[in-house]
Parts: sequence; structure tokens; C-alpha cells
Amino acid sequence: MISNKLPKIFYGGDYNPEQWSRDIWNEDVRLFKLAGIDVATVNVFTWALNQPDENTYNFGWLDEVIEQLYNNGIYVCLATGTANHPAWMATRYPDVLSVDFEGRKRKFGFRHNSCPNSPTYQKYAKSLVEKLAERYSHHPAVLIWHVNNEMGCQCYCDTCEKEFRKWLKKQYGSLEELNRAWNTRFWGHTFYDWDEIILPNLLSEHLDRNHPDKTAFQGITLDYHRFNSDSVLDRYLDEYEILRRANPNIPITTNYHGHANYKPLDYFKWSKKVDIVAWDNYPSFDTPVSTTAFRLDMMRGFKDGDPFMIMEQTPSQQNWQPYNSLKRPGVMRLWSYQAVARGADTVMFFQLRRSAGACEKYHGAVIEHVGHEHTRVFNEVAELGKELSSLGDQLLDSRIDAKVGIIFDWENWWGIDFSSGPSDLLDYPEQVQNYYNAFFENNIQVDIINTNSDFSRYELVVAPVLYMVKTGLAAKIEEFVANGGTFVTTFFSGIVNEHDLVTLGGYPGELRKLLGIWVEEIDALFPEQKNRIVVKEKIAGFKSEYSCEILCDLLHSEGAEVLAEYGDDFYKGMPVVTRNKFGEGEAWYIASSPEPKFLQELARHLCKEKGIEPVMEAPSGVEVTRREKDGRLFMFILNHTNLNQNLDIKEKTYKDLLSGAIFEREMIIPPNEVYIVVEAK
Ligand code: GLA
Ligand code: ZN
Repeated sequence: MISNKLPKIFYGGDYNPEQWSRDIWNEDVRLFKLAGIDVATVNVFTWALNQPDENTYNFGWLDEVIEQLYNNGIYVCLATGTANHPAWMATRYPDVLSVDFEGRKRKFGFRHNSCPNSPTYQKYAKSLVEKLAERYSHHPAVLIWHVNNEMGCQCYCDTCEKEFRKWLKKQYGSLEELNRAWNTRFWGHTFYDWDEIILPNLLSEHLDRNHPDKTAFQGITLDYHRFNSDSVLDRYLDEYEILRRANPNIPITTNYHGHANYKPLDYFKWSKKVDIVAWDNYPSFDTPVSTTAFRLDMMRGFKDGDPFMIMEQTPSQQNWQPYNSLKRPGVMRLWSYQAVARGADTVMFFQLRRSAGACEKYHGAVIEHVGHEHTRVFNEVAELGKELSSLGDQLLDSRIDAKVGIIFDWENWWGIDFSSGPSDLLDYPEQVQNYYNAFFENNIQVDIINTNSDFSRYELVVAPVLYMVKTGLAAKIEEFVANGGTFVTTFFSGIVNEHDLVTLGGYPGELRKLLGIWVEEIDALFPEQKNRIVVKEKIAGFKSEYSCEILCDLLHSEGAEVLAEYGDDFYKGMPVVTRNKFGEGEAWYIASSPEPKFLQELARHLCKEKGIEPVMEAPSGVEVTRREKDGRLFMFILNHTNLNQNLDIKEKTYKDLLSGAIFEREMIIPPNEVYIVVEAK
């Protein structure tokens, strides 16, 4: 449970009373109570207000806000407010201003742009957090600390450059080691002094504005990303340590970016340092349900299956998308439960009251500009508030049991994207999503894991485009397979080590023995070009052929069984799908990017072989998940379509926790409807 002060799914969100007068605060509290809101995230962008100069701090207004909320039964998720340095600081201490990828020093403005290595930033952020910790860490209203906000700033200033050199010294010990790891004999880059090392940006190793990720030296850019992710993490930790010391019983988190797989920060590494993962979930009108599901499963995966927080979602529309559609009636509720269905223990919004000015005035809110409760959005929020209260603590801390782990690894992603070639069409998150979708369509529960996760918890581990095989990983996968696990990987895997140096002696490098293949060449197809996967002998459930695209590995079996061959081009007849027995298990290789149908059938086939059952057979567009707690199984059934859907529940009887309805034999689910059912004896 996140906090035993509030033993239910937290309901509320970002609240910015500092933008409003006192009479509005009273009205806010009245409306929050009407909506069943029990938590407000406060103090997010208030540094300038809390600290008007170097030595003055004003928390009077915050004391009042917290008191007023608390006296009305509303707890706070207390932000530290370090996400935007005040204007006075930028003017007096320009080292807080970051330098961008193009080498331009920023001026004061916007947010999330303080240099993470700035001594000024560190000094004042720590001192602000000390003051907050002193004042509020034993306040009964405080449920959880919210450090900063959507952290992340990639800075290329001189301070960062110096820190980067120190970081490298620690990693490599000597310049010889560094020169070797970065392969600096290429294009005459040998470094003789640490001070010769420059941050990789558009003025140095990245020279193409249209392809900003492409770098002349992957090793340097990879290390910069590791360094930057660590630098920002250090700023989180500065705050974490102060808050932890002040009161070890208040959990601490920070909200992750809406993209979930936000590229600059290695969230798997970060998640070891948060007490609970918190995420800002912003799907747009046309985001596939499976994409949101993938992101939610990743949030749960960050801390090995622990429940997480939805820190923000919009009650209705966003302002920063090109077309900010309203969430249709019922959709806010449906998507809120989708998050709960996949492991969230909170439902929180950005924002509780819509700002009157600046760039978020057209962002949806619980309280709209009209100011009263008689709106569609408010009504939907209040309805959901009631339901969540009625659920009590039943679902809290329940977990999802998955036998399939799909690997998503930040360093692997960086490595693929920083390399020039073999194809601009290769998109790592998209490839992982493709495999995820195949299981999603079959209602098979999946954990998103990374290469450091414990594989022994799974029957099946899928690692799409495992380009980078870090030290020790090949042996770890071999052990998993030798002990009976099934491992699936794809084209362009096993190519490099953690410095992006190619493993010589034939692809897929360190995975060659496990997979029983040798990849000789890699062909890149044009966008409209396709090849064919021709299935050799009938494998149960498979059609005889499928299309494939993007990359085609030209490979030879070195013991692996060839299940399918290419149907076209000069490599027609070469293997495209192979399976290798290894110890007690097997390792599959999919040498190209197949159409979705193939992946769905592959997922079905592998799950069948491993005895992994779908949560339930359901029509397409009906999402089904299962959370478990103390031997109780909660089935979430979500109809994402515009039609009634029928579910054959066979001889079972289920009861819906939300409506109390009892279902026998079949379940008819209206459009956008959600059921959370348990078996009724
Ligand atoms: C992010 C931020 C919020 C707000 C929302 C708007 O998630 O954390 O402060 O700007 O986006 O969607
Ligand atoms: Zn900097």
C-alpha cells in the first residue's frame, strides 16, 4: 500500500492554487469533495514563489493550502518544486542555464532546463528541499513526496563537459582503455589528455540536423547518454536523501514522462531509486490500446511487478498535441481502469483546475473555465470518484502473474539509434511493440523487463532486435534456455558489446552458439519492398507464407532447425525462421520483420508449447487482464470498441465489483464498458 493513511486507489491530481485567489480555493475544496477527490499534488512549479531571492523563503501560502485540504479530508502528494529555477537565479547565476544540442546557451524561460551539473542549481535545490522536509515531512496530510517533475535535461555546457571527463575517468581508469573502447583510431580521434574529450553534440560528433541521433562515434554518444541519465538521477537522489532522512516512512517518487520509454533516461536504472514508479499517461485519440497497454506493462516492469502510480492523465483533452480531441463519454473511465487493470494503484489527473493563462489554458481539467460542477467532464470524474471509493482497498497491491517477459533495454535502444545503417526504417520501440502486440491480441499477460531482470521467473523471454549484448548477458540467456526456457530473438541481434564494438567472428556474435546460426549479411529493404517467409513444413496454426520487411538477415544454420525460408530475391531458400535446441530449452531466430499475423501465430504457438494460457478468450477490441491478491483473482474486462461484445464465460459465474451484476455463461459488454469480476460461487 502506498500509504496506510489512504487505503484505497488515490484519486485526484495536480492542483495549482498558487494561480488563484483565496475565494477560488474554497470553491475548489467544495468541488473536490463532490468529485470524490482525496489527493492533490501541490507545489509543482512554485520555486519562484517559495523563494523570492537567495535568502528568503515563503511557505505561508503552502501551509494554508495544505491545511485547508487536510481539514476537508484531502491529502497531498507534495512536490518539491525544483523543476523550474526562478528568474532571479538565472540572471545572477547563469551556470543554471543549460546549453542545448546545438551549443546554444539558453536564456531564462520555459521549464525543465536547469543544467543538472550546475553548482548553483544543486546548492539551491538542496536547500529548498531541506526547508520543505523540515516543515512538512511529519505533516499528517503528506502521503508521498513528488520530486521535481518529469525530470530530464540534456545539457552540453562546460560544467557538464568537465563532469563528463570525471565520469569517464571513473569508468575507464585510463585513456588507453577509453581509446580502445571508443575505437578512436577511426578518423584519427586518439585522445592523449582527458581535457581533449568533448561532449558529443551538433558541434562535434553529430553533424546532421535531420538525423540528430546519428553520431560519428557511438561509444562517445552512448557514454554521454549514460552520463546524462546518471547526472539527472543524481539530482533526484540529492532530494531523495534529504527527504528520506527527514522521515523514512513517507514514500518518495518522481513522475516519468508520458512516452514511458522516454529516450534520454534509463528508467529501469532509475526505478531502483524510486519507492514507487509514477507515470504520466497521455495517449491521444488515435493511440492504439495496445500501445498504452505496453507502456503500462513497462511501468509495472520497472520494479519487478510492483504496483505503480498514474500521476497524471487528462480528464479530457491535452493542449500539446496537434489535434486535441476530447475523450469521448466513458473513455476517461475506461482508460483509467485500463491503467488499474495493468497494475496502477492510483488514478490522478493533470489538472484539477484549468489555468486562465499561459500554454496550458486549453488543457483539460476536472474544473473547467466555467468554474462549476455542471459539466460532462466533472460528472464523469465524480462518477469515477464514487466507484473508486466503493472499491476500497480490495485491489491495492494485487499483482499480475506473467510467464512471458519481453525485453526493452535502453542502452540497446541508444546503440541501435546512434548507429549509421543499416536502415532508417529500423525503430526499436516499434519492433518491441510489434512482438508485444502479438501477445496482447491473444490476451496473454506479459511483463516488460530489461536485460538485468531475473529471467528465471519466465517460461518465455522475447528480445526483439537484441543488437547490444552486454558483458555476461549471453551466458545469462544460455543458462535460461539450458534450464528449459524458450528464448526468441530477431534480425540484427548479437552484433555489438556495450561500447558498440562489433563482436568479431560472425553475427550474431555471442548468441551464435545458442541460436545455432551464422548471419553472413544483412539486407535493408526499401519502404515499399517486401520479402516472403515461406513456412517449410506445416507448423500447427501457421499459414504457408507471410510477408516480411525492413531488414533481412542472410543466414546459415549451424545446427538450428530451419522452419521457414525466404521466398524471394537472390537469397530465396535461405533460412528466415530457425529454432535451436539448447539444453532443456530452445532458442528461436526470426531473421526479418514479419507481418503482424505471423507474430500472432508465433506467440500462440510458443504459449501453447509452454502451457501459457490466455487470461480469457475474448473478441478483438476487448482487453482482459487479471490481478491477484491473497488468492483472489480479479478479472478486468474492457470493451474498447463501439459495439456490444459477447464473452463466452462457459460454466462460470462472475460478479462485477463495480455494478454488482452477476454473469452466468455469457457476458455482454456495452461499448466503453468495464467490468472487474470475481468468481461467484
Ligand atoms: C506533463 C507535465 C505537467 C503538464 C502536463 C500536460 O505531464 O508533468 O506539468 O504540463 O504534461 O499534459
Ligand atoms: Zn550543463
